Amino acid sequence: MSLSKPPLPSGISFASRFAPHSLPRWSMPEKAMPKEVAYQNIHDELQLDGNPKLNLASFVTTSMEEECNKLIMESINKNYVDMDEYPITTDLHNRCVNMLARLFNAPMEEGECGVGVGTVGSSEAIMLAGLAFKKRWQNMRRAQGKPFDKPNIVTGSNVQVCWEKFARYFEVELKQVTVREGYYVMDPQRAVEMVDENTICVAAILGSTYNGEFEDVKLLNDLLLQKNKQIGWETPIHVDAASGGFIAPFLYEELEWDFRLPLVKSINVSGHKYGLVYAGIGWVLWRTKQDLPQDLVFHINYLGADQPTFTLNFSKGSSQIIAQYYQLIHLGKEGYRNVMENCRENAMVVKEGIVNTGCFNILSKDNGVPVVAFSLKDRSHHDEFKISAMLRRHGWIVPAYPLPPGADHITVLRVVIRADFSRTLAESLVMDITNVLRQLEMLPHQYINDHKATMTNDHNNIEGVKKRITSSEVRRKIIAQEAKRRQKILAA
Ligand SMILES: Cc1ncc(COP(=O)(O)O)c(C=O)c1O
Repeated sequence: MSLSKPPLPSGISFASRFAPHSLPRWSMPEKAMPKEVAYQNIHDELQLDGNPKLNLASFVTTSMEEECNKLIMESINKNYVDMDEYPITTDLHNRCVNMLARLFNAPMEEGECGVGVGTVGSSEAIMLAGLAFKKRWQNMRRAQGKPFDKPNIVTGSNVQVCWEKFARYFEVELKQVTVREGYYVMDPQRAVEMVDENTICVAAILGSTYNGEFEDVKLLNDLLLQKNKQIGWETPIHVDAASGGFIAPFLYEELEWDFRLPLVKSINVSGHKYGLVYAGIGWVLWRTKQDLPQDLVFHINYLGADQPTFTLNFSKGSSQIIAQYYQLIHLGKEGYRNVMENCRENAMVVKEGIVNTGCFNILSKDNGVPVVAFSLKDRSHHDEFKISAMLRRHGWIVPAYPLPPGADHITVLRVVIRADFSRTLAESLVMDITNVLRQLEMLPHQYINDHKATMTNDHNNIEGVKKRITSSEVRRKIIAQEAKRRQKILAA
């Protein structure tokens, strides 16, 4: 560290000798640089990142209130694992676990503690839940004197990559029910058919990553109960409620997907998605103590007291846990319900705008996670990737991707509606999608001129062009209507 150089007065970093040089990339620099210069250069380079609020690819929270930001900064220097030193932080963690266990209807007596743990996100939560199922199954098979070296797990082909990671990292065969055109989630009947004596659990998703659709956990539970009863098995269910865990309890209270169903033994949820906390927090809950094999829980004493831990990482920040507690008590059920209702309504505005263009099929459901997944009706002249790239020019990040195996010939664009995505932004997005379609429409006309000779004899192409011209008129009408609507809103 260079101690001889006096710090630069603030405000002169651009004039410093560091400004004309690029920042070190490959090797750590020998010399120090003034903090203002380091800050300014990194800050400036980060301007090239996308704008998180316009990142409609992500479910993860991008804004929180000032009060919560303050709490986050106040606790940024606390290592969560030092539980003896930070007992209040540990207690806030346990309060979150208890609130979530009750929100998910765990069978608990008055005053009984919930069983669960805060994680870095749903991926870590899923690793832990999967390990608990694997251990439980192995213990059971060992006790029965049966082989326990070929565990498998049954999921839909639409699972998030963390399930594939779990299977590969922890040597569990992944048996997937492939989705099909028109049905983009796991079919419970086919899942139950795949279950065998080596199945450690069936994983259902409450809010498929691809289109936000809720899988039918109740039907899965009922079919699996029947099969278990017939054969004498105890195959359990895990619910991956990464997104839906903070939506269903507020918007679809009657929907049975959680611990109300007897085979649901564990649930994960991302605090950093619709739990409304910045990236870095997830939760896994078990139905009862018996569902978490105790040989997976480590007890450490070198931090001052006996502390049970069941996480993959040792150290981690406390801020996100504190922020989760803040959101739970600040918003309460009423606040979460309002936020989720707003998200659903904004999703409807986006969906209707997209439907009105006449160019897309909608592949998401109105009553799942508030996302709109849509694919082009006619891909002969441009595809979803082109639309995604053109939306990027307007600042929007709207990913295009193929659906999972079984429906991977279909590509979708997906818009995730988060809490900070306002009605005004929803309307602007619809306008921009419409504009992009209009710009793309110009391309086929050039194409027609370039290929006039071949086109004249090609009846199908001409019919296609006619169709596009008609739909462009419709679109012009929509744009005019939208412009009027916006003027009205602005005038109001
Ligand atoms: C259904 C589902 N499960 C798991 C995950 C992984 O969650 P996390 O990013 O919290 O690790 C995601 C992320 O999008 C998801 O959609």
